[in-house]
Amino acid sequence: MRLESKFKVSRLAKYAIIVYIMISLFYTTNHYFSIHHVQTSPRQQDTSQRVNALPRYQEQSPNVDRMKQNYNQQAEKANTDQVTWPGSKGSADIHELSTDLIKSKIFSSSMGLDNVTPYYFKASHKMKDQDITLATLVTRNRFRVLSRLASNYKGPISAAIHVLDDDEKTATIKELAKIYSSNPNMQKYVDVHLIIDKFDRQFNMWRNAAKLFTRTDYLMMLDVDFHLCTDFRATIFGNSKITKMLKAGKTAIVVPAFEYLEQKDGKDWRTFPTKKSGVIEQVNDLKLDSFHNSWVSGHGATNYTKWYSAEEIYPVTEYEFSYEPYIIYKKEDTPWCDERFIGYGANKAACLYEIFISGVDYWVLPNDFVIHQSHKYANHDRTRERTHNRILYENFRTEVCLRYSRKYVTEGTWYTSAASNMKKVCTDIPKWKYLSGISKEQREADKLAEDAALLVAGQESTLTYNQQEEEEEEKEEETIALPSSSLTEQQKLELESLEESEDQEESEEFEE
Ligand SMILES: *[C@@H]1O[C@H](CO)[C@@H](O)[C@H](O)[C@H]1NC(C)=O
Repeated sequence: MRLESKFKVSRLAKYAIIVYIMISLFYTTNHYFSIHHVQTSPRQQDTSQRVNALPRYQEQSPNVDRMKQNYNQQAEKANTDQVTWPGSKGSADIHELSTDLIKSKIFSSSMGLDNVTPYYFKASHKMKDQDITLATLVTRNRFRVLSRLASNYKGPISAAIHVLDDDEKTATIKELAKIYSSNPNMQKYVDVHLIIDKFDRQFNMWRNAAKLFTRTDYLMMLDVDFHLCTDFRATIFGNSKITKMLKAGKTAIVVPAFEYLEQKDGKDWRTFPTKKSGVIEQVNDLKLDSFHNSWVSGHGATNYTKWYSAEEIYPVTEYEFSYEPYIIYKKEDTPWCDERFIGYGANKAACLYEIFISGVDYWVLPNDFVIHQSHKYANHDRTRERTHNRILYENFRTEVCLRYSRKYVTEGTWYTSAASNMKKVCTDIPKWKYLSGISKEQREADKLAEDAALLVAGQESTLTYNQQEEEEEEKEEETIALPSSSLTEQQKLELESLEESEDQEESEEFEE
């Protein structure tokens, strides 16, 4: 009897252990998959499935206010897509944030909660890190142009595709799916990031989406209408000096852009020149010209005159704030485009302005070029948008200058080459150095050094000395008069009194 019961107990224990193991295994696995949800379950539907499947956007209400409500509810739900953050070392306390919340932070200065689906279609091509992705923006009437670009480039493309949230959206997405599935080069090379909302022309937000989901180290910010006439990837990666410059992250490479003077000449890319000599010939024949040549500020700094005879890559020396060339640059550690620019005017220039101020120099490739493929421009009057953005851009430039100058002062890089682009373009902000946090002693020392330099220059040539002296005096008067258009009288007064009490303020610094 005793023996029998002992035997029974050990069998019972064995079962209990097996059940325990099974239960813990189940929980561990379950837990593992729930915390690794975002990383381990990329949506890998193939294109044909996608075309037939219910489009994802239908899962959500098309109404923006309702979307926001849904979003708030969703954020609380544990079973939506999550991004996980590790606890402190050794701790299993993993923190989860919904991807919707993350997206709302990523695009927090855009118009609203944007319905962004990254990799709605994902390219099958295996991307190399050392490659250049064309990051581009596409709207409904440009799907075919994108398809053509994919066939011509045969390299990675990251396309932010905006679909207006209206009655036509289902038809639009069907059309996109059809074009995507009918061109093998689209399937192979193009990542489509779908943005569905009611806000048209949020160009910089779209640009950021295209850049963010780029899967290579470098990208080219390109308008989809351009035809790539040469193989600039071969130029760049076939030249160790240029590759190194790109890799260091402080160079943006400009590919000069051209357009035909007669719209009919620019319709068929197969007739475009493929060599620089062909470009020069057509420019001499007055058929081809630099892009938007009537508005020199946009591309003038590329210096086309110089380009025609250049044999080596050369730097842009006359940067100005309206400059908006097509550039190739590094994805990591370069500024994003400010998303407050919505609609036409200044949006791309604002992007390039901040990139420049951040210490990235522009260099022009001597033998590569792109040509605009002409199309009918829709006849919209965008005057209001352009005026809006011009005002915004004026304030933005002051803001960027102050933000970066403060950064350079704090980092201790103000007197290094990192700050030299900023110093070239930010000079007209009143009390600039004071606002950036440069000490009074340092400012006085700088002034003495500048004066000494002027004196030396003056000894060399009395003529330039007089000129410079005059300019310097003018500058001083300006500084005293605080002439900035972007400051109100009230702000000017505040600024004056601030500087008067500066010494006192500096000693109180830590009490703020
Ligand atoms: C363009 O380059 C030429 C030749 O190097 C130079 O003389 C000229 O000053 C440059 N112009 C601008 C606007 O940079």
